[in-house]
Formats: sequence, structure tokens, C-alpha cells
Amino acid sequence: ASPVLSDPFGRTVDYLRVSVTDRCDLRCSYCMPRRFRGFEQPEHWLTLDEITRVVAAFSRMGTRRVRLTGGEPLLRKGLPMLAAGIAALPGIDDLSLTTNGTQLGRQAMLLRSAGVQRLNVSLDSLRHDCVQHITGNDCLDHVLDGLRAAQRAGFERIKINMVPIAGVNEHDIEPMVAFCMEHGFVLRLIEAMPVGENGRNTQGVPLLPLLDDLQQRFGLVRCTVPMGGGPARYWTSPGTGFTLGLITPLSQHFCDTCNRVRLSVDGTLYLCLGQEDKVELRQLLRAGCSDAELEQAIRQAIARKPERHDFLARPEKIVRFMSMTGG
Ligand code: GTP
Ligand code: 5AD
Ligand code: SF4
Repeated sequence: ASPVLSDPFGRTVDYLRVSVTDRCDLRCSYCMPRRFRGFEQPEHWLTLDEITRVVAAFSRMGTRRVRLTGGEPLLRKGLPMLAAGIAALPGIDDLSLTTNGTQLGRQAMLLRSAGVQRLNVSLDSLRHDCVQHITGNDCLDHVLDGLRAAQRAGFERIKINMVPIAGVNEHDIEPMVAFCMEHGFVLRLIEAMPVGENGRNTQGVPLLPLLDDLQQRFGLVRCTVPMGGGPARYWTSPGTGFTLGLITPLSQHFCDTCNRVRLSVDGTLYLCLGQEDKVELRQLLRAGCSDAELEQAIRQAIARKPERHDFLARPEKIVRFMSMTGG
């Protein structure tokens, strides 16, 4: 049998997103409810060794990209050690991390030394009151500190993830472009997905209709240089080098090229961000399964990967919050 993981729709799965905690120090309105109480109990958290074991099994089956997410991954104790263990696995040539940036000031250097190659940082506005409104916390200065620390630590092409919300930060796109141009960050605009009851109450901004105007204003041309392992499409300004990415799960979905699955902190493998299909690996791991049994369970899971999300047809369907899988 070929070692490569491929699903019933002929897509190769070579990208694993690993949520290392479901906790977060922020409460972004589109991600987690303010008074959320449904966190996993610590005894259900995969240990760092268990996570590494699952990633190793994926790597033996052709996975080359791993992204660490959360919740907020920097809250997980031992994260740099985990990153180093994953970076050392044969076949893993792209190890990246998505963070809210509040703790990067302290940890950027450690993560870089541990072998994290790429960073995506969430930031929805450069205005204190707007950041406070979206995240529940006036964390802007910490995130800006974190971004500076990440650049000093040698991370290149850091991406800023911004989720425009109607009536909240849609007019912050332009200042964010200017900020990213000035500091050399790639800006990605993301359509809010209706996950959890929160997401359904959040009116994201459809991005395709903005494209013409953005292209003209900033002199952007389509960019086909690979910029990561995810679903973004990119445009760049030859004059300034500024690069803009759009992630459009709603106005133009990208499921036909999906290459990824998600491992949550309790050891559940989610097969699609916009479907409930999942396979639990924790019991198997804790029952002392062999590597071959683990690989077989993963293969059987991938055989059940859904073709695509139905965020548009059935927005009420996904009850889990984004914080469980890290997007
Ligand atoms: P790169 O490797 O840098 O391209 O990273 P990425 O874009 O894959 O990762 P990131 O964690 O920064 O995610 C950015 C946004 O893309 C988040 O809102 C994710 O929820 C969304 N996203 C990533 N993968 C998928 C996917 O498979 N389906 C959907 N619908 N959204 C996704
Ligand atoms: N829709 C789209 N993107 C989301 N993110 C969190 N929740 C949502 C949502 N409902 C983004 C965060 C983070 C990335 C991992 O996912 O902004 O940057
Ligand atoms: Fe893949 Fe599902 Fe995301 Fe579509 S919504 S790209 S199938 S994970």
C-alpha cells in the first residue's frame, strides 16, 4: 500500500493542524463565547508524548506540514519542547504556528530555536477600543510587542490574520494594509465562518466583492508563488512587495484542494472544519495500541473525510467553537 494518505475524493492529506490546548487568554467574538465553560478536563489532554506519537504516525504516512494551534497554543506548558520533537521527525519540513500574539514577546525566540519556521498572528484592528471590543481584552500593545519580538527572533514573512466583521472592523482594513506594508507583514483577510452559536451571530464581510477595489488601490497582481500550506490566495504589489491573502470559505470555497485534517487537544481527529465527522484516537493510544494500529485508525479516518463543508446550507450544524480546533 502507498504510504501516502489519500481520501475518497482523490485528495492527498499531507497537512496536520494540531490544537495543543482549547484554552485562550482572549475571547474573540467569532471564536469563543465570553462565558465559555466547556473546556476539556486536563486528564483528557493528550500529553506532549502522545501528540508527538500521533504526528509521527502522520509523518510516516506522508504528512510534511504541521501547524500548532489552540485555543492559544502559547498557553500550553512545554510547547517549545513539543515543537522541537515535531521538527525533528523525519519528513516534517514545514512546522508553523498560529497564535494571538499576546505571549510572543516572551516566547518568540524560544519557539524559533525549537524549530518553528513560520508564524501566523491574529490581529483584527490597530485601535485599542476595537481590539478590546472583539477580544474582550485591551491586548493591542502586547500583540504589537509580540510581533516585534517575532521579527527580532528571525521569523520572516509573518502573516497577520484579520477577520473583518461588519460594522466592527471593516474600516480597519486600510490602516492594517498600511501597517503591514510598513513592517513587512503579509496581511490575510478571512471570512468569518459560522461555527458554534457565536460564529452564527457574527456577520463576517464577504471578501470577493472587495477584491477589485483592493487590487486597484494597492496595485496588486495575482501571486502564484507558494506562501504556505493553507487555503489563502495571494496578491502582491510589485512596487512595495506588500502581499495580501484572501481566505474565502464562504464566497469561494476551496474544499476541492483540501489537504488537511485536525487533531484536537483531547485526541479527536476532525476530518473537516465545517463538518462533525471525527475519530477519537485517545482511547486507542491509552489502550497501548501499536504503531501499526494507530496508522490503520488514521487511514480509516481519512477514508471518511467529507467532500466539503456546508456552512452556507446548514450554518446551525457545527456546534463546536473554533477554539476547539484552532481554525
Ligand atoms: P498557511 O500555511 O500560512 O497558509 O496557514 P493557514 O492559513 O493554513 O493557517 P491559519 O491557522 O493561519 O488559518 C487561517 C484561516 O484559514 C483560519 O480562519 C482557518 O480557520 C482557515 N482555514 C485553514 N484551513 C482551512 C480549511 O481547511 N477550511 C476552512 N474552511 N478554513 C480553513
Ligand atoms: N471564522 C474565521 N476565522 C476564524 N478564526 C477564529 N474563528 C474564526 C471564524 N469563526 C481565525 C482566527 C485565527 C485563525 C486560526 O482562525 O482569527 O487567526
Ligand atoms: Fe477541507 Fe472542510 Fe476546510 Fe473544505 S471546509 S477546505 S473540506 S476542511
